[in-house]
Amino acid sequence: MAFLSLWACLLIGYFSVSLAEAYNFSDLYPPLWKESPGQFSDYRIKNGKYIINPWVYPERLGMYKILLSQTASYFEKFAPENEQNILWGLPIQHGWQYTSGRLADPSQRTDCGYDSGDHLCISEDSWWADMNYFLSAIPFLAAVSSDIMGISSDQVTLLPPPKDQTKFCLNVSTCQSSFPKTMRKWTIFYQHLQIPSSSFDDLLKYLWDAHTSSLKDAYKIFTDRFQDYSEPEVNFGKTWYVAVGYIAAARFPTTMIKTYEFQKSLPPRMLVNGDRAPNIHDFTELQNIVLLGLNILHEADNDTGSFSLTIWKILMKTERARKFVLELSEIILEAFTPTFLEIMS
Ligand SMILES: *[C@@H]1O[C@H](CO)[C@@H](O)[C@H](O)[C@H]1NC(C)=O
Ligand SMILES: *[C@@H]1O[C@H](CO)[C@@H](O)[C@H](O)[C@H]1NC(C)=O
Ligand SMILES: *[C@@H]1O[C@H](CO)[C@@H](O)[C@H](O)[C@H]1NC(C)=O
Repeated sequence: MAFLSLWACLLIGYFSVSLAEAYNFSDLYPPLWKESPGQFSDYRIKNGKYIINPWVYPERLGMYKILLSQTASYFEKFAPENEQNILWGLPIQHGWQYTSGRLADPSQRTDCGYDSGDHLCISEDSWWADMNYFLSAIPFLAAVSSDIMGISSDQVTLLPPPKDQTKFCLNVSTCQSSFPKTMRKWTIFYQHLQIPSSSFDDLLKYLWDAHTSSLKDAYKIFTDRFQDYSEPEVNFGKTWYVAVGYIAAARFPTTMIKTYEFQKSLPPRMLVNGDRAPNIHDFTELQNIVLLGLNILHEADNDTGSFSLTIWKILMKTERARKFVLELSEIILEAFTPTFLEIMS
C-alpha cells in the first residue's frame, strides 16, 4: 500500500507539472465564456436593478464569470491566473451540459437549446438545467448577499422561466426564505473564503457541503422532469446525482485543469435507448469505462440503501485517505485506461 501510494505521488507530480505547462487556460474555458457578460453593467438595468435571464446560456454563464472574477483574489495564494479557484467546477460542468445537448428541451416540443433552433436557449424542461439552476443562481445570489460581488442584495433580480415559476427563487430574499439551509451553506463557504487562514482543503469541504445541499433541494423538486428522457439518460442522471455524493466526500478539487480533465470522461452527448457501457461505439474507452464504473457505484449504493456512502464518508474522513483516492483515480483516468481495457479484453 505504501509503495503504491508513493508510486502514485510520483506519477501525479509528473502529470500535474506536465498539465500545467501544456495548457493555454483560455482553451479550457466553457464555450462562449469570452462572449458572455463579465460585469454587472453588461446586463440590462430596470428600476435600479440588474436583470439577468438565466434561461439564456451566455447570461447564466455570465453569473459564473462575475463570480469567478470576484473571488479570484482569494485564490491568488494558491496559484496564479485563478487556476486554483475551486468555483471553476461549476461553469466548466455547465459548459459540458451545454455542448452535450443536456440544456435543450428533452420533449422536443420547442426548438429551445437545439443547434437548428434557438441554440442559446436553456429549457426549463431540462432536468440538467433545473438542477444547475440551484448550482448557478443560488451560489450567485448567496455571493451577492455575502457582499463579495460589489452590489447590494436588492440590486439584482433573475427572470423567471415561462412556466413553473414557483419552483425557482429569483432574488436574494426569496432564495433565503425558500431554501434557507442551502443559502446558509453557500454563505458559510463565502465566509471561509474571506478568512485568510482558511486552507484549500477547508474551502473544498465547505464548497462541497453547499454543492450537495443545492442538489438535494433540486432533486426533490424536479423528478417529474425525467419523463421526457430515454431510460439510459434517466439512469445516468440518477447515477450522476448519487456519484456526486461520493465525489463530494472525497473533496474532489474542482479547479480549472482538474475539472477539465475529469470532464473528458463524461458522456459527450445524451444517452439514447440501446446505449450500454462499456460498448458505446462513439464514446472513448475512458468515457465507456467511467460510465460503467458509475453504474456499478449506483447499483452498490442502491443495493446497500446508501450504507456504502456512509462507509465511504467514514473512510474519507482523513486527508490522507482522500488524497490517496484522488491520486489513484487520476492515474486511472489519465494513464492506465487503455492498458486496463486491453487486459480486460
Ligand atoms: C492562448 O490562446 C488564445 C486564443 O485561443 C490566444 O489569444 C493567446 O495568445 C494564447 N496564449 C498563449 C500564452 O499562448
Ligand atoms: C424578490 O422577489 C419577490 C417575489 O418575486 C418580490 O416580492 C420582492 O419584492 C423581491 N425583493 C427584492 C428585494 O427585489
Ligand atoms: C434499486 O433497488 C430497487 C429495489 O430495491 C430496484 O428495483 C432498482 O432496479 C434498483 N436500481 C438500480 C439502479 O440498481
